[in-house]
Amino acid sequence: MIKKPNLSVNFCGVKCENPFFLSSSPVGNNAEMCARAYDAGWGGIVYKTIGIDKSFKIIMPSPRLNAYHYGNKRFIGLQNAEQISDRPKNV
Ligand SMILES: Cc1cc2nc3c(=O)[nH]c(=O)nc-3n(C[C@H](O)[C@H](O)[C@H](O)COP(=O)(O)O)c2cc1C
Repeated sequence: MIKKPNLSVNFCGVKCENPFFLSSSPVGNNAEMCARAYDAGWGGIVYKTIGIDKSFKIIMPSPRLNAYHYGNKRFIGLQNAEQISDRPKNV
């Protein structure tokens, strides 16, 4: 049997199996996605930003990512048009 190397880290006091984290984005959009990510071996998840100011109007753009042009240069990068999550603080 192959012995798995120890990749564990202590990140700001949080112990994680490995240093590979999902970014705060649609990839960790709900509890089921986060659970599946851990099952697949990810070491942590930075959950999508949520808001507590109910007056902030959240718009779900489509597409969420767009080509970014600068001057006469075409497609120098991607711009992220997504806002914070519409999920509540308490589930
Ligand atoms: C569609 C999308 C949604 C994102 N939503 C959030 C968010 O809610 N909160 C946040 O702090 N970062 C958010 N991010 C930023 C990512 O977490 C990450 O920092 C960014 O994509 C840069 O990653 P990179 O350094 O691997 O390129 C979002 C990024 C994308 C592409």
